[in-house]
Amino acid sequence: MHDSLKDIYWAEKHLTKAIPKMIRAATNETLISALEDHLEVTEGHVSRLEEVFELFGKKAQAKKCEAMEGLTKEAESIIEETEEGTSTRDVGIIMAAKKVEHYEIATYGGLTQLQKQWD
Ligand SMILES: [Fe+2]
Ligand SMILES: [Fe+2]
Repeated sequence: MHDSLKDIYWAEKHLTKAIPKMIRAATNETLISALEDHLEVTEGHVSRLEEVFELFGKKAQAKKCEAMEGLTKEAESIIEETEEGTSTRDVGIIMAAKKVEHYEIATYGGLTQLQKQWD
């Protein structure tokens, strides 16, 4: 449980640096504002995780999440491989962002399951 928390904490913190790169690379206004909103949500998740660490009486600590690093690297290569201002790049960014969200959903789902086992 504690290990998974460190993993997702690293992942969320990493995303606060990765999302701005996606914003800069995107063209569609709706996509840009969705990413901007999500950046705020992600910053909220970082602070919420810090509260969770506190509840466990632990210091907030990040442990490199290889999966999230891979997903954001994939987003970067999509950006590199597509042309600026194209909808192809925007679609690529959406796909990459969706993969990131699914990783988050799976992790938080797993953490909830673990917590339930303890209750
Ligand atoms: Fe999140
Ligand atoms: Fe997210």
